[in-house]
Amino acid sequence: MEPRKSHIMERGDIILMILGIIVCLSGRVVESRSGGYRPLNNKNSVEVDYTTINSCRKHSAALTDFGGVGDGKTSNTKAFKAAIDHLSQFASDGGALLLVPPGKWLTGSFNLTSHFTLFLHKDAVILASQDESEWPQVEVLPSYGRGRDAPDGRFSSLIFGTNLTDVVITGNNGTIDGQGQSWWDKFRQEKLNSTRPYLIEIMYSDHILISNLTLINSPSWFVHPIYSSTIVIQGLTILAPIDSPNTDGIDPDSCSNTRIEDSFIVSGDDCIAVKSGWDQYGIKFGMPTKQLSIRRVTCISPDSATIALGSEMSGGIEDVRAEDITAINTQSGIRIKTAVGRGGYVKGIYARRLVLKTMKYVFWMTGSYGSHPDPGFDPKALPLIDNINYKDVEADNVTYSARLEGIEGDTFKGICISNATISLTEKPKELQWNCTNVEGATSDVTPKACDLLPEKKDLECPFPEDKLPIDDLKLTSCSNVIQF
Ligand SMILES: *[C@@H]1O[C@H](CO)[C@@H](O)[C@H](O)[C@H]1NC(C)=O
Ligand SMILES: *[C@@H]1O[C@H](CO)[C@@H](O)[C@H](O)[C@H]1NC(C)=O
Ligand SMILES: *[C@@H]1O[C@H](CO)[C@@H](O)[C@H](O)[C@H]1NC(C)=O
Ligand SMILES: *[C@@H]1O[C@H](CO)[C@@H](O)[C@H](O)[C@H]1NC(C)=O
Ligand SMILES: *[C@@H]1O[C@H](CO)[C@@H](O)[C@H](O)[C@H]1NC(C)=O
Ligand SMILES: *[C@@H]1O[C@H](CO)[C@@H](O)[C@H](O)[C@H]1NC(C)=O
Ligand SMILES: *[C@@H]1O[C@H](CO)[C@@H](O)[C@H](O)[C@H]1NC(C)=O
Ligand SMILES: *[C@@H]1O[C@H](CO)[C@@H](O)[C@H](O)[C@H]1NC(C)=O
Repeated sequence: MEPRKSHIMERGDIILMILGIIVCLSGRVVESRSGGYRPLNNKNSVEVDYTTINSCRKHSAALTDFGGVGDGKTSNTKAFKAAIDHLSQFASDGGALLLVPPGKWLTGSFNLTSHFTLFLHKDAVILASQDESEWPQVEVLPSYGRGRDAPDGRFSSLIFGTNLTDVVITGNNGTIDGQGQSWWDKFRQEKLNSTRPYLIEIMYSDHILISNLTLINSPSWFVHPIYSSTIVIQGLTILAPIDSPNTDGIDPDSCSNTRIEDSFIVSGDDCIAVKSGWDQYGIKFGMPTKQLSIRRVTCISPDSATIALGSEMSGGIEDVRAEDITAINTQSGIRIKTAVGRGGYVKGIYARRLVLKTMKYVFWMTGSYGSHPDPGFDPKALPLIDNINYKDVEADNVTYSARLEGIEGDTFKGICISNATISLTEKPKELQWNCTNVEGATSDVTPKACDLLPEKKDLECPFPEDKLPIDDLKLTSCSNVIQF
């Protein structure tokens, strides 16, 4: 931990403050030694305590220093751009923090920079603009080959970053509101030629921390780190209507060394969806998601999975560790979704301590998910599904215990399930374990599993004892005083 900065003014501060007053009187702002902007006509000051993934930020400013207006009506797209452009010059000089003060800050898409913290005050709400001209188009993802929900292209995310290092998006539980309704309506009416924006997307980056925020009503997926590594996602409340289209909570996609923890997600789609590219494009790009830890996450999603692996998994998914997961009124626990043509693999998956209440399926694997980018996929590209381990599962009010559907000629193997107690709903399905083209074993599972997963006495499914590098990553506590 770094020592807190003293707030007693030092001589240098006083000199700089006087200089500041002079400069402010001439209509400009000045930066103090500690980096805070202190324009004369601004009366509020706030102490910002934050955690960073690298070191504390030497420089700081508030959105209002760049013309931001928090009335919920004025567009702040230019203010965010001006602020971040300005603060980017400090990337190699101690980094910078941008405070979003109390208020409602309407904005279109904006881009982040390196060694940068975006900090939302607890009473700050970033409101996503509904004006399409505020959303630039960005290139389609190479591992997808086209836009995910429309072939032509895709809109940039509300908060976007590419080729960055050391980026933090955090706050005292401030809110980012995607105002997704109009996008959902247009999507349903097939009025979009481009893929809807995500709320936050970080690409080709490392050392990313996204924490302590409330994210609501994303136009589509909420948090999408892609082609990135060393990522911590912590303390998020993610809320979307349970019937909103494709509002996945957190989608680590071709990412390594990632930790997702202490989050609460209500969604119209999968709460967490682990991905790595789509069919021939994903196979060619060949970047897996690996070394992923998911802990203490609660999910509500009546029509989707708590944690989905796929369906886009063509670059491979490997070494995923999920523990202390709770789901309530959710369609399934951990679900593997894949299809002929995907190629890739899902292997080395470990889950323990799942508490599931009111579920359609506890265990679900689907080898016939379909959904291809175009007819050019390779029908010979079969996914490898192997070494899947679930233990210490407690589920109640369940309709189907398991639906495990491998692929003919491509058996899903190495499935291990131990110590799972499933209580059924009043009207359960007659066939509780429906297994085809799968291979493995079970132990201490009720109701008794299918013949393809025979009972093996004293079998205990493994969960890795070693740590991932991300578990040793040190977060630093910091404090800056900022005027706005
Ligand atoms: C999130 O907030 C909690 C409670 O205020 C705090 O203890 C924690 O350090 C914060 N985490 C991050 C990563 O900012
Ligand atoms: C953000 O960066 C991307 C990629 O460099 C670019 O295409 C996009 O236009 C930028 N967005 C904004 C709002 O400047
Ligand atoms: C970002 O990084 C990727 C992968 O390293 C590279 O292909 C691309 O050219 C970089 N883009 C920019 C704008 O630097
Ligand atoms: C953050 O705000 C959300 C929505 O208001 C609330 O449900 C959640 O409990 C808050 N989290 C914390 C840590 O205060
Ligand atoms: C989408 O494409 C169709 C056909 O090219 C065109 O008629 C329509 O105006 C486009 N819609 C938008 C919103 O760009
Ligand atoms: C079985 O799992 C339950 C939680 O679902 C746990 O309390 C119990 O200790 C586990 N039993 C063994 C033998 O590990
Ligand atoms: C049990 O699940 C059924 C749906 O299968 C649902 O209607 C009912 O409300 C649930 N009961 C409880 C106590 O949660
Ligand atoms: C069992 O699963 C197979 C493959 O998913 C499906 O076609 C079949 O209808 C299921 N049977 C029952 C009785 O649910």
